[in-house]
Amino acid sequence: MPHKYASRGRRAIRFAAASAALFSLACEPTNKGYSPNQPVVYSHAVHAGALKIPCPYCHYAAERGRHAGIPAAQICMNCHSQVVKDHPEIAKVKESLKTGRPIEWVRIHRMPDFVYFDHSAHVNKGVACQTCHGPVETMGRVTQESPLTMGWCVECHRKSWPKAVERAAVAALNMPKEEAFPPGTAPMTRANRLTDCAVCHH
Ligand code: HEC
Ligand code: HEC
Ligand code: HEC
Ligand code: HEC
Ligand code: HEC
Repeated sequence: MPHKYASRGRRAIRFAAASAALFSLACEPTNKGYSPNQPVVYSHAVHAGALKIPCPYCHYAAERGRHAGIPAAQICMNCHSQVVKDHPEIAKVKESLKTGRPIEWVRIHRMPDFVYFDHSAHVNKGVACQTCHGPVETMGRVTQESPLTMGWCVECHRKSWPKAVERAAVAALNMPKEEAFPPGTAPMTRANRLTDCAVCHH
């Protein structure tokens, strides 16, 4: 997975600088409650809620790598070339396609670049979008529901660790869970702990 390491050097330098500068681990919340206006009025409550369009229809990249991605205007037109064609917001989508100028969606959730986060590492291990993003399918305008602080990440990682060890052991031994784990045993085959600094800072 080359993307994982692409900007490793630069991140490591930034992280060293941050660590040196900040002895206080009083980590700041990063924008909880942030809910900016968007250039096109788009409602998750309508699309993911009422119409029940699955999240991966538009955010399919979340299962494949670091970023969940924002859908291209063409994805809107899969439907809006047929339905609600004359809405003023859809006119903006058509304009974007005509000019080739992408819609400038305002980014809401963002990690500092000395932190490594990966959607697929979570989504493919059964962590639901809503666990971190709240009930997006009820939101007219997306709001950041979680603090995205280091404490928030680490708290869940501490709780998730035993299950992660178990999952890795079962995969490594290639045998059913009951055989890999006779009562009272817990083999530690996973190299890192989910709370090691290097999991999120490398
Ligand atoms: C029909 C397409 C579509 C579907 C389905 C959809 N989204 Fe989105 N999503 C978007 C678009 C467009 C944006 C950017 C505009 C915005 O923030 O509302 C977005 C933004 C977001 C954001 C904020 C991104 C940021 O900037 O930080 C989150 C979180 C999100 N979606 C989660 C979800 C979840 C969870 C679901 C399923 C419950 C879902 N989305 C379903 C199109 C979609
Ligand atoms: C899978 C089909 C589908 C996709 C993809 C889709 N829409 Fe829609 N959208 C609909 C339908 C159906 C309605 C009508 C909902 C209603 O009124 O009951 C709608 C309604 C709307 C409306 C009307 C106002 C509102 O919120 O009810 C806007 C604006 C809109 N969509 C924008 C978008 C944008 C922007 C995208 C791309 C990010 C998008 N849609 C993607 C099916 C879709
Ligand atoms: C473990 C917590 C967690 C889970 C689970 C999660 N996200 Fe995120 N999401 C984040 C964080 C943290 C960011 C900011 C990432 C960054 O800046 O690199 C983010 C950013 C986003 C963004 C902004 C743009 C991008 O490409 O990253 C979208 C859209 C999004 N998430 C949608 C989803 C959807 C849809 C799901 C479920 C399929 C999901 N997320 C599951 C934590 C999570
Ligand atoms: C599960 C992920 C995770 C782990 C493990 C983790 N961090 Fe972090 N760290 C973060 C996130 C996310 C941020 C940015 C948000 C914030 O500042 O709270 C951060 C921020 C920081 C900062 C900057 C603080 C600030 O206020 O800006 C330092 C320094 C730091 N981490 C050091 C460490 C050290 C040392 C360890 C190991 C003991 C560690 N981290 C383990 C996720 C993690
Ligand atoms: C709700 C729980 C939860 C939250 C919140 C969460 N994580 Fe995770 N994280 C997990 C689980 C579960 C795994 C998968 C563990 C496994 O391999 O079984 C994981 C895996 C990871 C991995 C891959 C680790 C590896 O060695 O494979 C990274 C990197 C990571 N998380 C970073 C973060 C960062 C950064 C944040 C905060 C922005 C965060 N996580 C927030 C539960 C969470």
